[in-house]
Amino acid sequence: MSTRRDFLRRAALLSAASLATPLPLRAVQGGMAAPPVPDSASPVPFPSSPFASPNTSPREAARDEPYWREIARQYRVTDEVTNLEAGFFGTMPDPVLAAYQRNVDRVNRESSWFARTRFPAMAQEARQRTAAALGVDADEIVFARNATEALQTLIRQYNGVGPGDTVMYADLDYPAMQDAMRGLAARHGANLVTLDLPEPATREGILETYREALDAHPRTRFLLLTHANNKTGLIHPVRAIHEMAQARGVDTVVDAAHSFGQVPLDLRELGSPYVGVNLHKWVGAPVGVAAMVIRRDALGGIDPAPGGPGGAGGPGAAGATDRIDTRIQVGTMDFATLMTVPDALDFQDAIGVERKAARLRYLRDTWAIPAREIEGVDILTPDDPELVGAITGFRLRGDGSREGNAAVVRTLMEEFGIFTVARSGLARGDCVECHGITG
Ligand SMILES: Cc1ncc(COP(=O)(O)O)c(C=O)c1O
Repeated sequence: MSTRRDFLRRAALLSAASLATPLPLRAVQGGMAAPPVPDSASPVPFPSSPFASPNTSPREAARDEPYWREIARQYRVTDEVTNLEAGFFGTMPDPVLAAYQRNVDRVNRESSWFARTRFPAMAQEARQRTAAALGVDADEIVFARNATEALQTLIRQYNGVGPGDTVMYADLDYPAMQDAMRGLAARHGANLVTLDLPEPATREGILETYREALDAHPRTRFLLLTHANNKTGLIHPVRAIHEMAQARGVDTVVDAAHSFGQVPLDLRELGSPYVGVNLHKWVGAPVGVAAMVIRRDALGGIDPAPGGPGGAGGPGAAGATDRIDTRIQVGTMDFATLMTVPDALDFQDAIGVERKAARLRYLRDTWAIPAREIEGVDILTPDDPELVGAITGFRLRGDGSREGNAAVVRTLMEEFGIFTVARSGLARGDCVECHGITG
């Protein structure tokens, strides 16, 4: 029988094997020196060394190592550790980092004159580009500083829940959004129902879990869904769950923090009127930018920000509340970060999200599928391409304890220089989360 140590050695071999394969988001060349900050008057051409797109299907392109080597050259990451938590926030590729540094420099020099005269058009461009990438209109999105801010705002200000109603979330949802759902229920005297998603997950199993819960709680009004969760990486069949909810008069809010840039994402296709996405994870924009999305015809379901026009305690300005920016007040955001959003989207577009998603899944498969054969290890995320992207969770069989999973994470770091994290909150116990790539 295999011991834990055997497993870790085999896992390390797998990791080493996958690192021997050139990885898309890992710099393999270029050293660690910071790039020079170019003068804002002479922007660097984009991308700094162009890469030609392969003329093959995304699936074939996923294995095109010379192509990914070219892309990897655009990234510089530390070689002190192998980072398997790449989705916390994305490493910017060099062209995006250079743009960001130029933008920081420019904002610092031109100050409020710039912020009040030139920046608004740039912010509008960033908004239009982001909306187009998500398949919605620009007046349906507003920027926030992170997905927590965007999604907590949507949940906190949702006005369709009353006393005796039910709000619902699942074990795989993100803790900050679970908190917001609990707060919503408490403020409105609503009941809270939580569900445990099946393990191992299948599309039918997931749908059945939601169907049973919704049928058992006919007064459910609001349902939190996570498109790609951060524990097991499971991609939820959001469209189908949303339709099931809608047919029962239930509104959904979707946490797509981890989806934008990891998998193809079309918010019209997803169906839900309320969505939060991140741009500083898989899109690779600088840290500090996310978007709150409200479908135009559903704006009335989210109260205006308290104290603002039309909001509780606010001046009640009639007519001003038909704009999405009355739903959130973020104050001053990082100008340079917002200015860099189009550069990050350009870089994504140069690769193509279908191609990138195929590569991420291919890399994930290179370790997760063989690891299924390791005695005593449970790979928690299905191999069904509809249900998985870059992220996969695992645990040693029967050990969902916090200490056990923390020990695996510690051993990976201490013995193999592999950095990743343990996750709590799953009904069946903790797990270790791996993004299967570095950078
Ligand atoms: C599924 C999910 N939702 C929301 C968030 C929150 O994102 P942010 O840190 O930008 O607030 C995260 C962060 O990792 C996440 O994994």
